[in-house]
Amino acid sequence: MTRVVFIGPPGAGKGTQAVKFASTLGIPHISTGDLIRAEKKAGTPLGMEVQKYADEGKLVPDEIVLKIVAERLEEDDAKKGFLFDGFPRTIAQAKSLDRYLKIHHMPLSVVVFFDVPDDVIVERICGRRTCRNTGNVYHVRFNPPPASGRDENGKQLDLYQREDDTEEKVRVRLKEYEENTAALIPYYKESGVFQNIDANRDISEIEADLADLAIKLSA
Ligand code: AP5
Repeated sequence: MTRVVFIGPPGAGKGTQAVKFASTLGIPHISTGDLIRAEKKAGTPLGMEVQKYADEGKLVPDEIVLKIVAERLEEDDAKKGFLFDGFPRTIAQAKSLDRYLKIHHMPLSVVVFFDVPDDVIVERICGRRTCRNTGNVYHVRFNPPPASGRDENGKQLDLYQREDDTEEKVRVRLKEYEENTAALIPYYKESGVFQNIDANRDISEIEADLADLAIKLSA
């Protein structure tokens, strides 16, 4: 059973790599950002509560995120392992996850840190386009959507720019990252499963390193 955590600043490329990595390992890709946006879209009371934080680029309070994650971990597919993308994002979340994993005798296999400088992040986020129909993520310059307007399976693309993907909101998200999430690096370095990845490279180069890691994890 493989249990993976991807951490890193906003726009570091976690989601882009998580889709393939999780599929290679046969584990669900659990993005707390996606779960939060799904709540928001469903218009539930919880969705309305989280919207005001997420749209502003602020972190959603720990107790709400932990509730959403606990519910997701109860689903059958998470029993065979998981890849968390963007969770944990605070020391309190990390400690809560540790407690859960300890109770269930499920140690983490690896924590991958996506290392990218701030100036690269702003350019990546402001150029991101996401598809409403497929969930695919593109970049106007680095990973342009097909000119045909359809994905590789022939599905029609319906691209939009996320509410929090403006330069102003990215600055807020980076501040939140520095104040709350960066502390996870020393935290996980001590755990012995920390792995740094130079994410300031082409998508294909990072993907190749992760493919090697997937082979090691499956051995
Ligand atoms: P979330 O959706 O998780 O956003 P994020 O962490 O800010 O991460 P992103 O999705 O922005 O970036 P990414 O690293 O996945 O990059 P991507 O692969 O898309 O969270 C959104 C909000 O939800 C948070 O602000 C917060 O409010 C809330 N939230 C979520 N989790 C929470 C938690 N645990 N606690 C509290 N609140 C939480 O790539 C970005 C762009 O770059 C794309 O266009 C892509 O095509 C391009 N790209 C990717 N890799 C490369 C590359 N190597 N070279 C060039 N371009 C690249």
